[in-house]
Amino acid sequence: MQFSEGTLAASTSIDALPLRGELRGKSAYGAPQLSVPVALNTNENPYPPSPALIADLVAETKRLAESLNRYPERDSVELREDLAAYVSKQTGVRVSRDNLWAANGSNEILQQLLQAFGGPGRSAMGFAPSYSMHPILSAGTQTEFLAVERGADFTIDMEVALEQIAQQRPDIVFVTTPNNPTGDVTELADIERLIEATEGIVIVDEAYAEFSPSPSAVQLIERYPDKLVVSRTMSKAFDFAGGRLGYFVAAPAFVEAVMLVRLPYHLSVLSQAAARVALRHADETLATVDKLARERDRVRAGLEDIGYEVAHSESNFLFFGNFADSHEAWQAFLDRGVLIRDVGVPGRLRVTIGLDHENDAFLDVAKDVAHD
Ligand SMILES: Cc1ncc(COP(=O)(O)O)c(C=O)c1O
Repeated sequence: MQFSEGTLAASTSIDALPLRGELRGKSAYGAPQLSVPVALNTNENPYPPSPALIADLVAETKRLAESLNRYPERDSVELREDLAAYVSKQTGVRVSRDNLWAANGSNEILQQLLQAFGGPGRSAMGFAPSYSMHPILSAGTQTEFLAVERGADFTIDMEVALEQIAQQRPDIVFVTTPNNPTGDVTELADIERLIEATEGIVIVDEAYAEFSPSPSAVQLIERYPDKLVVSRTMSKAFDFAGGRLGYFVAAPAFVEAVMLVRLPYHLSVLSQAAARVALRHADETLATVDKLARERDRVRAGLEDIGYEVAHSESNFLFFGNFADSHEAWQAFLDRGVLIRDVGVPGRLRVTIGLDHENDAFLDVAKDVAHD
């Protein structure tokens, strides 16, 4: 870590602090935030918000600025009502605000769930490679993380998964679908088998749900009310990564449970209002999802033409290779002005689908890198 000049007591190192044992030697999560011509590394929607949304947000912010001396409404009831209407429409399952909980990004949602259902003496299982924050949030809540490797095609090997659940009896099982970084979907029938095998709870992380035509696990909540939580976010398809708004859908008892651990007033007046404005403009925002899916298929075909292997993806990113040295390849992309993601899986890299001209630039560089 670099400290700026004049920083007080910068000579103390983290190793000298009485840090909890399990955090020693760990690195902080962080996709590099570099200034490059083409950044395709954090799976955001590349289209900026519409002028109508921006105008609505500015007017709403002006109105609310007058009362920022007051704490926000603590339980985000109106926002949860709007989210419930959106989820009902998007999934076809009628849910109410009592089924919804919102927080600062789905990372905070996952952290609150781990605080309530994980902790010392408890464990969480995930199917690797998957979202890197699941083990990090587990470590932060002193929940033991049990990584089970996916199969050779990067999908969950159901036999191995069921065997490991039976053997290790995790308190929490994470299923990410579409999975990050691979893009594949776990079918509802398989999610049901995982839920039935688990004594604890299953958190289905659907951060990329809107990009996939597959049905949402929200459909299973009625059947498994005490075991299933579906986590979602407005950071991806919803074009709202900077707004920081994630939510979960579950039986109301799960909402009661996270209220025991959430910080009071965790969602600011401005976060709640901005998310409500974004939800009012959902239809125009989500019109970009089809464009991105078409671009994903174009980029996939381009990569395959060059000779790369590309995993099946129902999301806004592609997982591709096979590189002799993926970190060296990542650097070669960066040296040519294209920032993609090295997720630490040997031979593979992940690219987010961007604007058409960014995807063209990426494919040009991918050609060069293949011939290096
Ligand atoms: C699978 C998955 N879950 C959750 C998140 C967290 O997103 P946010 O905290 O922005 O909602 C991400 C972000 O990359 C993700 O890929």
